[in-house]
Amino acid sequence: MDITRRQLGTLVGAALLTPYLPARPAAAAVAWQLMWAPEASSVGLGAFETIEDDRADSHPAGQPHIFAEGNNFRFNMHTVDRDTMTDRQRQEVTGTRNPSGYLQWLKGETWRVTYSMFIPSSLKATTTFTHISQTKMPGTGTLPITTTSLRRVNGVQTIEHTIYEQGILVGRTNLEPLQDKWIDAEYEIKIGDGSAGSVRWVLRDGSTTLVDATKTGDTFLGDRVRPKWGIYRSLGDTSGSLQNCYMLLTNMRAYKQVQVTATRLEAENATISQGVVESNHAGYSGTGFVNSDNVAGAYTEWGFQQGTAGPATLTIRYANGTSANRPMDVTVNGTVVASGLSFAGTGAWTTWASKTVNANLVAGANTVRLTATTANGCPNLDYLDITGP
Ligand code: GCU
Repeated sequence: MDITRRQLGTLVGAALLTPYLPARPAAAAVAWQLMWAPEASSVGLGAFETIEDDRADSHPAGQPHIFAEGNNFRFNMHTVDRDTMTDRQRQEVTGTRNPSGYLQWLKGETWRVTYSMFIPSSLKATTTFTHISQTKMPGTGTLPITTTSLRRVNGVQTIEHTIYEQGILVGRTNLEPLQDKWIDAEYEIKIGDGSAGSVRWVLRDGSTTLVDATKTGDTFLGDRVRPKWGIYRSLGDTSGSLQNCYMLLTNMRAYKQVQVTATRLEAENATISQGVVESNHAGYSGTGFVNSDNVAGAYTEWGFQQGTAGPATLTIRYANGTSANRPMDVTVNGTVVASGLSFAGTGAWTTWASKTVNANLVAGANTVRLTATTANGCPNLDYLDITGP
C-alpha cells in the first residue's frame, strides 16, 4: 500500500518532528489502525450497518430484541422467536459503522476485531448450528465465510471458530467454563481467495489464553466481507438446549492492517545526560551512538511530535559488550512504562540488538527517556524507532 506523506500524518502521525531532531524513515512495518470503537452507551445500535431484530416480526411483544443496555450491546432470544425461514431464529446485527459511513472490508486487506462477550449459561451449545458471530458477503443466498458457533461435540458444549465453506476448524474449546462471565475474543481475517486467505481466532478468560490458532483458507466470496454478531440458531437441536437466553458484547474494536514507515530518531541527536557521542564501534546507524557514563541515572531523551494519539511501538537499538545486564527505565512523557527493562549483553560492542516496548503517545509533543538503573550505566544506544499510531 502506497501511503502518501499527508496520509501518514493523518493515519499514523509519525511524520512530524521537532526541527532539532532530524529523523529519517526506517524500515517499513505493519501497524494496526483503529477504525471502529463504538460505545453502546453513546452510539447505541448506530455502531452497526444493519439491525436484524425479529425481521419476520414473529414476536412483537419481545421487541426490541437487540438494544444498548448500559455500555453493552444486548441480544435477547426467546424460544418463540422465528426468522423468515421458520426452522431457525435470528437476532443479529451486521457490519461496522463509523460516523463517516460503513467500513468496507475488501479483498487483500487484513482486519482485526476485538471485543468482550458474556455468554450466560442459558445460551447453550446445540447439536445443530448456533452461530454467535459470522462473516458474510452482504446480501442473501451465500453461505457464511467464517463462523463462531456454540456446538455440542460428543455431548459436550463447545465454542468453536471455523472457515465455513471449506469446513476448516480454526479452534475449539469447552464452553461451560466460559459461561456467566466476561471473556475476550480476538478475530483476525486476511481476506483472500484460496490460500491467500487466513483467519486467526483468539479466546481469553482474563489472562488465560484458551485458543490462539491461525488457519489458512478461503475468506473471500465476492464484493466484500461483513461481520455479524448476535444469536442465529437452528431449531433442530436435539439436546433440549433451546431456552430463552441472551448475549452481551462490549468494548468492540476493529482495526485495519496498514503499512507504516517507522520514524527513526538517532541517539546522537537526542538530549544526553551523563554520556557522550562516539563512533568507535561499527554497525551503528547515523553518525554514531551514545556511550553513557557508567553511573545510575545517566539518560538519553528524545523529543518528537506526533500527529495522532494512540499506541506505538518503541524499538530501541543498543549494544552491550559486557556480560552484565544494563537495565534501564523507559519513561514516556514523564511516566515509567517499563521499569528496569533488561538490556542483556549482546556479545560485543559491535553487535547491535533491538528491544521493543509498547507505549501510548499523545498528539503533539512527546518524550521518551532511557535511564540507567545500575552503576554500570546504559548500554550503548544507537537509535529509537517509533511505529504508529
Ligand atoms: C567500553 C566501550 C564503550 C562502552 C563502555 C561501557 O569502554 O568501548 O563503548 O560504552 O565500555 O562499559 O559502558
